[in-house]
Order: sequence, then structure tokens, then C-alpha cells
Amino acid sequence: MKYLNITQLTKPLSGTISISGAKNAALPLLAATILGKNEINISNIPMVADIKTLLKLLEMLGAKYSISENSVVINPLSISKTIATYDIVKTMRASILVLGPLLARFGHCEVSLPGGCAIGQRPVDLHLKALEQMGAIIEIRAGYIHARTEGPLKGAKIVFDKVTVTGTENIVMAAALADGETTIINAAKEPEVVQLCEVLSASGVKIKGIGTDKLKITGTNRELIKIEDFEIIPDRIEAGTYLCAGAITNSKVTIKKVMPKHLEAILYKLEEMGFGIEQTKSSVTILPATKVKPVNIITTEYPGFPTDMQAQFMALALIANGTSIIDERLFENRFMHVSELLRMGADIHLNGSIATINGGKELYGADVMATDLRASSALVLAGLIASGETNVHRIYHLDRGYEDLEGKLNALGANIQRYDEKA
Ligand code: EPZ
Repeated sequence: MKYLNITQLTKPLSGTISISGAKNAALPLLAATILGKNEINISNIPMVADIKTLLKLLEMLGAKYSISENSVVINPLSISKTIATYDIVKTMRASILVLGPLLARFGHCEVSLPGGCAIGQRPVDLHLKALEQMGAIIEIRAGYIHARTEGPLKGAKIVFDKVTVTGTENIVMAAALADGETTIINAAKEPEVVQLCEVLSASGVKIKGIGTDKLKITGTNRELIKIEDFEIIPDRIEAGTYLCAGAITNSKVTIKKVMPKHLEAILYKLEEMGFGIEQTKSSVTILPATKVKPVNIITTEYPGFPTDMQAQFMALALIANGTSIIDERLFENRFMHVSELLRMGADIHLNGSIATINGGKELYGADVMATDLRASSALVLAGLIASGETNVHRIYHLDRGYEDLEGKLNALGANIQRYDEKA
């Protein structure tokens, strides 16, 4: 187990950070290769733990792949197994993304039910209900989803009770090989869902409504598709995290290899707090605020303010002059970082889904515990400005979604070291 030791900055950060490919775009797109009949070259893949986990799962199913830097060449033709085991799924719940494609291609599969995680119970009932409407027979036995179909999945009209990102992705992939047309109402519109649809569309799957909350997919009736090579879109959450690093340290920082249009809700809130924003078509620069104003945030689906940026903005709110309110509407337990920030001297009060943050308090370095991916990045941000040293433990959470975080921040002038936990 490793931890990060962060020393309080003695001067602002400065420089440029190159943003990696989006983990949450790469995961569904890797799962979608199950639908392919050819070798596929995927570029700009972030080499983070979650990606390595999914590649391991695909290899267990029979796929062949090779990695060079941030590219993966994968050949799904040799996939023959259809069991996603508990030991893999328990480490990464997004493994559920193989359910739709495996069922669509083979007509049967067994996928371990993903457990909950720190941020919530995170059920997959909407995924399963939609697949049943497409003709799947689904039984839950001993912690596994046993799914099968007589013949190909059938196109159906699906209305999602809640907007679900991976639920939409699973059904888009299942529908791609179904017999007939599937309509998804109340589909997720995240850029990562859009890229999945764009890649499938470029590979011959007829999809209407890409980017909207209503998708119409015409399936190939179990005909595997020739998937065109593609490049993963930039990670908007990594980008937002580094903008917050610049903001919390009152620095001028540029992030490049980004798509600013994916960051609009984040940039809007940073400007509301008084920070300056300059952008080009592939970069964003954040400039210090003369006075950091408090902020009110409600997390919601894209294009609204992303829940995956909630913890980072809570850290940022600690330096605001006044009281900020954050309402976490998507997950029932996504405030695990609060107790750790309190240990650093933060003044935060929780009442159900509402966090009240009284900014301006002195922050002290401390030993703190990462609990989930985005919480861990919030603790690093706080560590940059807390007096003395902060040790963030259990940083395997961080490594799931951030490629070389300390390297990228140290290049801007931070002092973050990675050490082995003392025995
Ligand atoms: C995706 O998770 C992301 N993960 C999450 O990012 C992100 O926080 C989340 O979307 C919301 O934007 C990936 O894309 C791999 P949901 P997902 O299904 O798809 C409820 C990160 O930091 N729901 O959109 O699992 C659910 O409980 C991760 O990279 C059901 O009730 O989220 C939640 O309240 C963390 N039944 C809401 O919907 C279902 O069947 C949204 O969940 C499915 C979801």
C-alpha cells in the first residue's frame, strides 16, 4: 500500500498540464470491442488501474491485446468465455459494462453483481430491467447475474426511470447487435456516452439522436461489426481537477489537450467564484481570483454540474470568503471526504444531501484516508495549501482514475512524494 506525502506550497503553481484520455470513455469503448470482428487500435487511453482491470477481464474472456504507451491494440475475435468473475468485478464495478455486449454477442453470460462502493449502493436494476425488455432471461444466483436469450436480443422501447450513464452504455451496446430497433428514452448524454455512440455509428451501427436523451439504435441481428480505430476523448474530470488545483493555490495554470465544451458547467462555477478563465479550442487557462467568492452547487446529469467534481469543489470552497452550499443529488453517500477534511481543520456541516462549507478557516496538514476516487483528489488539493505536511493514505483509489497525478502537479511546482506505508 502506498501513500502520498504533500508539502504545503510556498509559492503558486505555474505551467501547463497535458490531460489524459477519459477513463469513463475508455471503459465502455473497451467493452464495446466485444462486438467487433477485427483488430482495433485505440489511442489516447489513460494507463490507470481501472483500464488495466478491464483489459485483464477482456483477456480472461479470451481477447488478445498489446499496450504501447497510451495505445492499445485489441483483437476480440478470440473471445469465447462469458463469465466475469467476482474477483475482477469487485475491484471495478464498471465491469458491468461487459454484460450488454456479451449477452448480445453470445446469447448468454454470467457477470458478478457489482457490490456497492464507498459512494453508494449503486444498483444495476435499470440495466437488468432494460435487457429483460429486450428478451433476456435474467436470474440472480449466488451474487451473479445469469443472463441468456433464445436467439438474438430484440429491439425494444426502453424508458429509463433514472438517467444512468453505464446503463445507457450497456443498452446501446446490447442494441447494436439486437434484431430490430431499440429506442432509449431518458438516455444519458455525457460526452463519454456520445463517444461510444459515435464509434459504433462510424462502425456501421445506425444510431439516431446521438447527444440527446432519446436514442434510436438499429441492430445488426448479431452480425459482428468492423470497429474503426479511434482516439479516446480527453478526461473532463481530470481537467476539472487540475483547474481546481490552480484555483485553490491561486495560480495561473493551463491545461491542454482538452475539449472546453465538455467543461462548461465547471468553468461557469469557477468564474462565479471569481477566477479568470481563458480558453482556446483545446486548452483552458485559469487565473487567480482577487477575492474567492463562495459557491452554491447542485450535482446533476450532464451538461449540469458533474457529481465527479463535487469533492474537488468542496476542497476549493474551503478558501472562499463565506459559506458555500453543495447538494449531492446523485449518490447517497458521496461525502466521505468531509470527515477527512474536518481533520485538516475545515468547517463543514452535513445535513442529508446538503453540505455547508464555511470557508476561510486555517487548514492544517494531517494524515487522511482516501475513500473513493474523487474524494482522494480532493484531499490532495487540500494538502497543497494546508500548513505543514499532509499524508493521503490508500491512494490506490486515486490511481484508479488519475494517470501520474503527482508527476503532473510536481511539474507545476508542487512537492508530492509517493512512499510505501510503514509496516
Ligand atoms: C458513472 O457511474 C460513472 N462511472 C461515475 O464515475 C459517475 O459518478 C456516474 O456515472 C454519474 O455521473 C463510469 O462511467 C464508469 P449512474 P454509473 O448509473 O453509470 C442510480 C468516477 O468517478 N442507478 O449514472 O454507475 C445510481 O444509484 C465514477 O469515475 C440506479 O438506481 O452511475 C445513481 O444514483 C464514480 N439503478 C444514479 O442512478 C441503476 O440500474 C446515477 O448512476 C443504475 C443507476
